[in-house]
Amino acid sequence: MTSAAVELRGISKRFDAVVANDGVDLVLRRGTIHAVMGENGAGKSTLMSILFGLVRPDSGDIVVNGVERHFRGPLDAIAAGLGMVHQHFRLFDSMTVAENVVYGAEPTRRGSLDRKAAAARVRELSDRYGLETDPDAVVGRLSAGARQRVEILKALHRDAEILILDEPTAVLTPDEVDSLFAVLRRAADGGATVVLVTHKIHEVLAISDEVTVLRDARVTGRFRTAEATSGALVQAMTGREVREVGNPGTGEPGEVVLEVERLGVTDRGVHRVRDVSFSVRRGEIVGVAGVSGNGQHEVVAAILGTDPIESGTIRLLGRDLASLDVRRRRALGLAVVPEDRRGEGTAVTMSTAENLSLGHHRTPPIGASTGWRRGFLNLRAQRDMARRLIADYDVRTSGEKLPVGALSGGNAQKVVIARELSHDAPVLIAEQPTQGVDIGAIESIHQRLLDYRDQGGAVLLVSHEIAELQALADRVLVMFAGRIVAEYSRADASTERIGAAMAGAAEHRQAGEHEEAAS
Ligand SMILES: Nc1ncnc2c1ncn2[C@@H]1O[C@H](COP(=O)(O)OP(=O)(O)O)[C@@H](O)[C@H]1O
Ligand SMILES: [Mg+2]
Repeated sequence: MTSAAVELRGISKRFDAVVANDGVDLVLRRGTIHAVMGENGAGKSTLMSILFGLVRPDSGDIVVNGVERHFRGPLDAIAAGLGMVHQHFRLFDSMTVAENVVYGAEPTRRGSLDRKAAAARVRELSDRYGLETDPDAVVGRLSAGARQRVEILKALHRDAEILILDEPTAVLTPDEVDSLFAVLRRAADGGATVVLVTHKIHEVLAISDEVTVLRDARVTGRFRTAEATSGALVQAMTGREVREVGNPGTGEPGEVVLEVERLGVTDRGVHRVRDVSFSVRRGEIVGVAGVSGNGQHEVVAAILGTDPIESGTIRLLGRDLASLDVRRRRALGLAVVPEDRRGEGTAVTMSTAENLSLGHHRTPPIGASTGWRRGFLNLRAQRDMARRLIADYDVRTSGEKLPVGALSGGNAQKVVIARELSHDAPVLIAEQPTQGVDIGAIESIHQRLLDYRDQGGAVLLVSHEIAELQALADRVLVMFAGRIVAEYSRADASTERIGAAMAGAAEHRQAGEHEEAAS
């Protein structure tokens, strides 16, 4: 039994209305690799930032090597033996690898930086941990993987015995992931304690000794990796209780309005989406399940036209979208509830009324498209529409003038949904529509999606929540490693089946079955 290098006890942190950590306990044992797992927004980065002194917890204790600590900043954490590799690198692009590694803890000779000593130190650490680097290379010219190695070296140079890596594999190619894991294993074998933040199940199973799962700011599972199954991890990560709003289905869906054929997406040489085909009909909700990072988001981006595609075709209402930009695609009949509500979904500093009328600016009654009033807004019409939608969609707000940024997550999401559905677009793409939304708002959002379908709308619903897909979808497609690996009818969409397919267990399916699933 190894002893605890770190104990976090009852850590809580809220950002305004958002509870990011709620009474989180985490024990990291010396010489082990501990995975902290959870979906986007679960609270992983917040917890790590607290451990590294970047964020102050509202309550809870941090104990490092048996001593209770109150970090005033990262320098205190570094002094206590912690090192962090951030999701977004914090390096100086114009400086060399060696300069970056020793920055802040430089070897000096007669008062100035001793370059030779710095380079020698980098070589020594590189050799010891198997981190391939050139000490003299300029950081700005390095690949993401090489930059990450610089960050790791930087932590090691300061003698970090507890190494925190926040989603380190997101920027790596599969080969780089393998070498990173070899480095981490070597560090742990040498007595270091490693925390690896990830949402990828196969990584957890491949590298960690222990796992703590977070969901909605709380710990929902603790496992020794050797005893964990992928199904249990998926369940802990996604199993939020969603109350059924009831989805009786309306009988036969109508004609195909969205058609994706043999779609392929590549990002910086990495295949994100491979040979994906599916269609969505009027009066149908097609769910897309998958652990985040398995290509779902890229499929959505391809349909919207925000990211380029490599191969395949996408048709909306029979029209090939290839030559159309985002705005034209939307004008053709695409409503969108984006995953990133605060970034893409709303303009947080603008009023609720302005947000609700986004996209209505060129058409009456709010905007005049022709004549001398072109370009002016009818503010009274804007206000009236806002008031009607706020009432219809039960947006809890003190009024239409309040900036959307001041609303709770659930109410801001109702604003997005109200606006998107008010365009009468035939197709709706909704990505994680209830992520970070309170239970009451979830039910109301679900009911809206069902009503839209029942009125003939076609919905592509991407969700990490199995329960949400079961509550809403008429069919569920499961994505894993960029492909659709399974498809289930509503009746067959059991948690066990979807969970297994999400974890990649359906890969052994026969080719014939796969073809069928993908068509
Ligand atoms: N600085 C911040 N200000 C406001 N909200 C934040 C801040 N940092 C995180 N959050 C919110 O806290 C929740 C948890 O976020 P985070 O810890 O980044 O999760 P994860 O790393 O698991 O994706 C999210 O809802 C996020 O929007
Ligand atoms: Mg994070």
